[in-house]
Amino acid sequence: MKQKRVHIITMGCQMNVYDSEQMLRHLAPLNYRPTAQQDRADLILLNTCSIRKKAEHKVYSLLGRLVRLKRLKPDLIIGVGGCVAQQEGYRLVERAPHIDIVFGTFARGRVASLVQQVEGQKKRVVDINPRGASEPLCVTGPTFKTGRATAFVTIMQGCDNFCTYCVVPYVRGREISRAPEEILEETRLLIEHGIPEVTLIGQNVNAYGKKNGHGCDFPALLEKVNDIEGLRRIRFTTSHPKDLSDRLIEAFPRLDKLVPHIHLPVQSGSDRILRRMNRGYTKDFYFKKVEKLRDMQPDISITSDIIVGFPGEQNTDFEATLDLVQQVGFDSLFMFKYSDRPNVPAAKLSDKVPDAVSGERLSALLELQNGVTLKKNEALVGTIQEILVDGPSKRSPDQLTGRTACNRIVNFANNGDSQVRVRQILLVRIVKAFSHSLFGHLVGEGHREHAGENGGLSHAA
Ligand code: 5AD
Ligand code: SF4
Repeated sequence: MKQKRVHIITMGCQMNVYDSEQMLRHLAPLNYRPTAQQDRADLILLNTCSIRKKAEHKVYSLLGRLVRLKRLKPDLIIGVGGCVAQQEGYRLVERAPHIDIVFGTFARGRVASLVQQVEGQKKRVVDINPRGASEPLCVTGPTFKTGRATAFVTIMQGCDNFCTYCVVPYVRGREISRAPEEILEETRLLIEHGIPEVTLIGQNVNAYGKKNGHGCDFPALLEKVNDIEGLRRIRFTTSHPKDLSDRLIEAFPRLDKLVPHIHLPVQSGSDRILRRMNRGYTKDFYFKKVEKLRDMQPDISITSDIIVGFPGEQNTDFEATLDLVQQVGFDSLFMFKYSDRPNVPAAKLSDKVPDAVSGERLSALLELQNGVTLKKNEALVGTIQEILVDGPSKRSPDQLTGRTACNRIVNFANNGDSQVRVRQILLVRIVKAFSHSLFGHLVGEGHREHAGENGGLSHAA
């Protein structure tokens, strides 16, 4: 069979990164191999995100650029998958007639048969149907490439929380957890392929196993993954504060491979707005969770998401958010302007915040957080950190880049063979702090204990 090339453009979150790999797994039997060169591809797939309006616009501008390529190469097949595909369905083909395939999030496992239909009959296909009862949630297999030393492993999909601003429950469906045996098998495969770190992913990972009757909740799953020989580090994302149990908090000091980092989106510091968002907790509840996390694991790094300009947000609400950010002292923060999404309840609220006001609030929050992040980073100067090496730094190829256990990016001068260093854990002394990264000097290989100095942060083995 003739070898063909597929180029996948992945937008959005880690779930999509993982899903793109799933697509490659499905397409391999049709003899499609991945290519980084768009103009050499026989098949181009856009794996799309619709979390905010901006992400959706990006899809249409990318599609616009593909018109010329399709004219030059009429046999080129263009497919659009992911969240925008699920949300828009046929409307996508109406807006961009050069698309051959629209496949929603539930049709990911059918991508190969859809491509075959187009190859064989030259017809256009749209599949936004639900997943078939006999179709597996994920195909277990090794990673093709992540670009980093960590590999994502999906443990659950969908969300039952229905935060009033969020499109996820509509485009990804209800929560469904993957069987623990599959997760363990995939993790073992990754280790065999030289991956030392897994990131367990899902929209709300700490709700893992609540449904589906696998007899294993999230802390129990972490324990099983922690027992896998050869694995060095475990990360997970994303967690919902209301589902953060004491057992999960206690897992941090107990499980030696679990890194001291949690991404715990708070979204707002105002109880009134949290209620309107349907988040299911108050600001005090969130503070208590943070306190417990820090009691159990004093060096834990806590990161979060915040939305400014949610409908009805007044200055006093925003000030409560600034207060919370100041008081918690997040290690880093993702900040967003509220964006109306189709069908979500918040879109129907009338008291929208003017864009200029949201913009000002976003700038104020950014400024506050940048100062906090820089201070937190500066506190690491002089410590020795265990860095899992991702590869050469993109900006300065003579440097290596990697991550601390607490997920900070560290660049350091490379005096060895970078091919050998990739995916190793090295000891690096931090000498300079910036707001988004750290710079350091290599001091040794292996574990921190052997350096005879305590960096004070990482607890990975
Ligand atoms: N507008 C702005 N930000 C949003 N997020 C989710 N939906 C919206 C929206 N409609 C943010 C939340 C979430 C992160 C992934 O994206 O902060 O945690
Ligand atoms: Fe969206 Fe809320 Fe579910 Fe997160 S928890 S995916 S914000 S509905």
